[in-house]
Amino acid sequence: MVQFTEPLVKLQPEQVLHVADLIQRQLGLIYNGDKLSDLERRLNHVLKEIPKEELGLTISRLLAGEFERIPNLIPQLTIPETYFLRNIRLFKALKSKILPEIINRKKFSHQLNIWSAGCSSGEEPYSVSILLTELLGEKIDQWQINLIATDLNEKILQKARRAVYSEWSFRGVPSDFKARYFVPLHNGLYQLKNEIKKNVTFFQHNLIEGAYPPVASIRNFDIILCRNVLIYMSRSTVQNILEKFYHILDDEGYLITGPSEFPTLKNRKFSPVMLEGTIFYQKSKKRIRTQPPLRKESLKKRLITRPKPKPAAKPRPIIPKEKSHFPLEIAKSDEKRDKEKKSAAEELNMIRELANIGHLDEAHEHCEQYVKRQPMDKHGHYLLGTILMEKGDFPKAETAFQRTIYFDPNFVMAHFALANICSMSGRPTEAKKYYRNVLRILERFDPAEPVPESEGMAASHFAEMVTKLVNGS
Ligand SMILES: C[S@@+](CC[C@H](N)C(=O)[O-])C[C@H]1O[C@@H](n2cnc3c(N)ncnc32)[C@H](O)[C@@H]1O
Repeated sequence: MVQFTEPLVKLQPEQVLHVADLIQRQLGLIYNGDKLSDLERRLNHVLKEIPKEELGLTISRLLAGEFERIPNLIPQLTIPETYFLRNIRLFKALKSKILPEIINRKKFSHQLNIWSAGCSSGEEPYSVSILLTELLGEKIDQWQINLIATDLNEKILQKARRAVYSEWSFRGVPSDFKARYFVPLHNGLYQLKNEIKKNVTFFQHNLIEGAYPPVASIRNFDIILCRNVLIYMSRSTVQNILEKFYHILDDEGYLITGPSEFPTLKNRKFSPVMLEGTIFYQKSKKRIRTQPPLRKESLKKRLITRPKPKPAAKPRPIIPKEKSHFPLEIAKSDEKRDKEKKSAAEELNMIRELANIGHLDEAHEHCEQYVKRQPMDKHGHYLLGTILMEKGDFPKAETAFQRTIYFDPNFVMAHFALANICSMSGRPTEAKKYYRNVLRILERFDPAEPVPESEGMAASHFAEMVTKLVNGS
């Protein structure tokens, strides 16, 4: 097959707009405003790979909205970012509260119906399968586990069915997780054990146009997970999907969304339940609260009532050096600087907490304000980058991480984040460059020294993981 490196045709702006409109209607994904140029880049990338003699047909398919017939288009339009036990607190709550409650409720029928909608490469449904295996033990064979997982992107489902993963899918998992459920292969890859794999069945399904339920024989779902999928869709599309989920959920079934999807979920048919700092939605009239209500208000209040920076003080008269109390001046300015540092760290902690409890939009807004006020603070840019990553805005996240390393070229986690962005956006050479930067900087660490901003990962462990990523990528 002849491949072209430069696009032979360029789509006209009105054609891009037309395709954006079709994408929103058929796939639910929004490309408007600033994102139109991103769409244009993605479409041109796809067209670049099409042989000359097939270009005309491909463009007419594109303009007719026959997206599934265009090779590599859907993978270009969707963001497959996922990993095992993503949002560890959610999985803790599933294991300690939600699943035991459902298992108890279903002790006579011995049947569990679970749907992971928008499952990407399978880490999410397999994480649930691991929890079920741990909870049911040997009795699992006495249960009928209907754990289905669907995605729009057939290519990513092929990866999910293979169940072979690299280190990158294990970020944030407990240390024994891999050893218990995976078999190491060559090249730093890991194969999921069959006892976990066999519980999950994957299907291609479009949440906008597909049937609900996706498999006619499985309904009354105990749990539907639809995390980090709705964030890319319009409010009305999300409401339609919620309505359909509602009808196929069991009477006391749970809907689990991603943290950033919470603000769009103002649907009175679901009652929010707060467990382990994570929100679940239950299809139930009764409102269950097993933990105190959200601390969102108090957090917000703390951010809003934070004392406003005082107007700049009037310039003080310059005291001739010999008359000034120089050591005292230094002590004072050090104290002031310490105070400012402490209050900046507190503010960043509060923003991080907001993001952790799922209020990504608010965290994003506060963080943008923070970096405007503190444009030279590497920690502010780094936090902004992580929030943008979580929101799926990789181009802006990349800029934030670039700024972080501009202010601190040895900021390990910013190099690491840039490597991952490059790797996910098909730029392996750049990814390797950043991974190597990580390894070079880590050489100066003590092996047991925790890598800053890595949630306490030891430098030697981190270097080992990155080495595997470099060799595998
Ligand atoms: C960011 S991943 C989320 C993976 C996993 N749920 C998680 O939270 O880790 C989003 C997935 O949603 C899928 N998706 C996007 N639009 C969809 C649609 N209309 N129907 C089904 N899946 C869709 C994408 O293909 C992608 O794999």
